Amino acid sequence: MIKLMLQLYRQSWYLVALAMLGGIVSGSSGAALVAMIGQAIERRDATLTAALAFGGMCLLHLVSKVASELALLRVSQDMILKLRISLSQKVLSTPLKKLQSYGPARLLAILTDDLSTFASCSQMLPVLFGNAVVLLACLAYLAWISVGIFLVLVVLLVAGGVLFVVAQRKPALQFVRVREQTDVLFRDYRNLLEGTKELQLDPKRARHFVNEVLQPGAARLRNGLIAGGSGYTWIGNLGSLQFFIALGVVVFGIPHWAPSSAPALPMAALMLLYMVEPISSLLTAMPTLQRASIALNNAQALDGSLDGPHELVSDAGASTFDGNVGGLVLHNVRYVHHDGDRDFSVGPINISIPLGKITYIAGPNGSGKTTLALLLLGLYAAEEGHIELNGAVVTQANLLAYRSQFAAVFADFHLFEQLLSPIDEDAAVRTQRYLERLEIAHKVKVKDGRFSTLALSTGQRKRLALLVAYLEDRPIYLFDEWASDQDPVFKRLFYTELLPDLRSRGKTVIVITHDDQYFDQADQLLYFVDGNMRIKEIS
Ligand SMILES: Nc1ncnc2c1ncn2[C@@H]1O[C@H](COP(=O)(O)OP(=O)(O)O)[C@@H](O)[C@H]1O
Ligand SMILES: [Mg+2]
Repeated sequence: MIKLMLQLYRQSWYLVALAMLGGIVSGSSGAALVAMIGQAIERRDATLTAALAFGGMCLLHLVSKVASELALLRVSQDMILKLRISLSQKVLSTPLKKLQSYGPARLLAILTDDLSTFASCSQMLPVLFGNAVVLLACLAYLAWISVGIFLVLVVLLVAGGVLFVVAQRKPALQFVRVREQTDVLFRDYRNLLEGTKELQLDPKRARHFVNEVLQPGAARLRNGLIAGGSGYTWIGNLGSLQFFIALGVVVFGIPHWAPSSAPALPMAALMLLYMVEPISSLLTAMPTLQRASIALNNAQALDGSLDGPHELVSDAGASTFDGNVGGLVLHNVRYVHHDGDRDFSVGPINISIPLGKITYIAGPNGSGKTTLALLLLGLYAAEEGHIELNGAVVTQANLLAYRSQFAAVFADFHLFEQLLSPIDEDAAVRTQRYLERLEIAHKVKVKDGRFSTLALSTGQRKRLALLVAYLEDRPIYLFDEWASDQDPVFKRLFYTELLPDLRSRGKTVIVITHDDQYFDQADQLLYFVDGNMRIKEIS
């Protein structure tokens, strides 16, 4: 809770200050209301002035409480918004390798589950904060009317607090396990959604998946939630009871132990009764707070372990790549996929890809072609060696500028509905031309910067991905097994017309391919076997 408050505080101190001030005023005015009622009963001075003062205090209480809660609501939602955006930005500035090691299910669990757990907690935060202030104000008032009663109460409350901290350790641990189990559930859900075709086709596999994979994980999650939740239920109710016991100790004990404090008893009892509701609402909120704090820790651990925040766009060092000499050269580039005791090592690779030419990269499955492509694009960082473009060495400082020399269609490409680039008159004309050239103009239109549909065959979707790459209009094009889903006619068009067209426009083209009947179309053929390069000159 305190950690959460500090988090909030860093966001916008003036709103937090307003919330605090409002909380203090509303807490004290709440306590004052009780005191006024107590006094009216004790002294029987039900005067008009007292009634008006009471009414005024009600208004003050309302206004300050609403102001405080609204301010906190605003601050906490601001914070969640910031967290959502900063996490998304950080994901984009984190090296691909690191993201792959996290795995999409874990990242998604944090971006969705953790953030919404935290969001639902921060909705409770304003009320909880108000309650905490009410409690403090009531305690202060008690101390003022009778130090004896206050001290007895403080001793009992501290004892209760210590018991609470000890008792909640176990259920809190359960919630940590629950959170770990959530990652597993997200992984299973991903498999469920991406494997619906396979599972629907084969009911036995579907049953096995649900009964043997999904169910045990989901049941572990339920068990953890029940164990943690029931722990907190006991703690919450015993805690509330303990407060009643404290009240009893005060009411029954004080007349015997400290008769001098006895006159303050009726007022103290009234005050204590008023404190019951805030106390029990704080205790009820504990499990939610605990889970939110775990969620926040998770999100922040990710936030901290991801790189950045870097600029997503940077032109730093862009001009260094401008010279049109030297081509794209790999010097002793080595990269290792660490995979337990079965590492896959690529390189050392020494190749030169001439500019304005077409280079084919071929080789059996798993020989490291895609890995090489990711190295070439600057998405994987070479462990040894370096890459040079037009005589300039690629470094961390000019990496973004280097990447922006490329347009690529990956083998596992992703199509966005939005074009994600400004569409001016000229781009609209070019888009229409490309749609026609790629023979999908009858299927897809572009309207308001979006494709009218993505419900297309894989081959057609790949043509759209090619269109997006065309629109980017970068100096170097890379296609990873682009033609593998195309029909023979379009395949021929791709290798014998589209690629040479790009070359004639001065583009450098790198094509990963298995289509050996078109190898003669390449200016250079690089052949890969088991992570190492064999160069075959074609022409
Ligand atoms: N994300 C990854 N994590 C660990 N190992 C990987 C990863 N991607 C590829 N590999 C390893 O690298 C090898 C080559 O993969 P890849 O470059 O995709 O081959 P290709 O594109 O030639 O079929 C694979 O056989 C696998 O062992
Ligand atoms: Mg591949």
